[in-house]
Amino acid sequence: MKVLIVGGGGREHAIAWKTAQSPRVEKVYCAPGNAGIAGTAECVDIGVMEFDKLAAFAKSHEVDLVVVGPDDPLAAGAVDALEAAGLRVFGPRKAAAVLEASKAFSKELMKKYGIPTAAYETFHRPEDALEYVKTAKLPIVLKADGLALGKGVLICRTREEAEEGVRTLMLDKQFGAAGDTIVAEEFMTGREVSVLTFVDGKTIRVMTSAQDHKRAKDGDQGLNTGGMGTFSPSPFYTKEIDAFCREHIYQPTVDAMRAEGREFKGVIFFGLMLTEDGPKVLEYNARFGDPETQVVLPRMKNDIVDVFEACIDGTLDQIELEFEDNAAVCVVLASEGYPEHYEKGFAISGLEKFQGADGYYVFHAGTRFDGEGRTVTNGGRVLGVTALGRDLKEARANAYEAAGWIDYTGKYFRHDIGKAIDEA
Ligand code: AMP
Ligand code: GLY
Repeated sequence: MKVLIVGGGGREHAIAWKTAQSPRVEKVYCAPGNAGIAGTAECVDIGVMEFDKLAAFAKSHEVDLVVVGPDDPLAAGAVDALEAAGLRVFGPRKAAAVLEASKAFSKELMKKYGIPTAAYETFHRPEDALEYVKTAKLPIVLKADGLALGKGVLICRTREEAEEGVRTLMLDKQFGAAGDTIVAEEFMTGREVSVLTFVDGKTIRVMTSAQDHKRAKDGDQGLNTGGMGTFSPSPFYTKEIDAFCREHIYQPTVDAMRAEGREFKGVIFFGLMLTEDGPKVLEYNARFGDPETQVVLPRMKNDIVDVFEACIDGTLDQIELEFEDNAAVCVVLASEGYPEHYEKGFAISGLEKFQGADGYYVFHAGTRFDGEGRTVTNGGRVLGVTALGRDLKEARANAYEAAGWIDYTGKYFRHDIGKAIDEA
């Protein structure tokens, strides 16, 4: 069969790589892809929001399955548009993608169905929010309602910061219309865990756990980023916690979406905080995580195309997910200055060292070919270097060894990805 992956980051590289492993797949396309994805898939120069062009391409190339990676096209109805053109598509429709696209929606859903999460209030008017933060318990977390590249979350420790935060989101509109509505929620403490799941509308199948490192600098300092590295599994996500989440969080979320007439098919990514009072939902994402996918899929034994199709067909109950009894660590190699200002276009060396290196992967996040066919940097996050190991310590040592194989001007990465595992 022929498969089209929509997207062009490290997550889509991992999805394209895993899809290409399937004996059922003869051809993988990726729109728009990047220089690394071009090694596994034929890249097509169509943007992720160009639904008509994507549909026309998929039809004319007899694509059997489309997989939509990023949040923006999902929230804007990519799946609905492609389905309307008669295509088979993996991912939530617009009505279901709202689970991620509106924090006000997801908080209300959790409240209505008793799914554990931080206490919160929603505000549509800045004056109400400003009044509220005058007396609210500190620290307080302010979140833009809409999609904001993972950056629309402000943790405010003082009243001044909270007032400033309301102004940033609602008056200065730093995240545009995403801040027309905000959620103010209770600050929680604990370990964070990312759990990706496949959902077919009724049945939910849980993948192995992972943990992301969102801050730019070592020791969780610096600005929030899309993610600087991940490890899988999380040693803090125990069997007991998993059992609790299945009963009180995962299945209830799927059932709640169905009850609301927003049947969810695709990936639900649960961002969890393991608090003293038990696991609580920090956020939902309606897609694979980036860079969680880069540590989860290399450990997955199943043919991913079977799982994609079972989600579309509503037959996920007939599939059990299987993961290797090993560990993976992904170190993101970024551009100096990310997530603020950085330069692009520097030649990358050392990529060939990954060829034939079993258990080592280099997933491209922001790369392109220059005029001479050299691979150059083309984004804030450039590469995700993933390595497997028998356990997390070995995987981490391997990932940092492989991170050293790569060189380019402005190469920047965190040195403490997975360090928390030493405390486990
Ligand atoms: P989100 O995009 O909602 O996952 O938020 C981004 C990051 O902000 C999370 O990964 C947490 O580290 C932090 N965060 C979000 N909500 C809370 C909360 N209620 N309490 C503490 N930290 C939070
Ligand atoms: N790594 C976090 C995310 O994909 O949203």
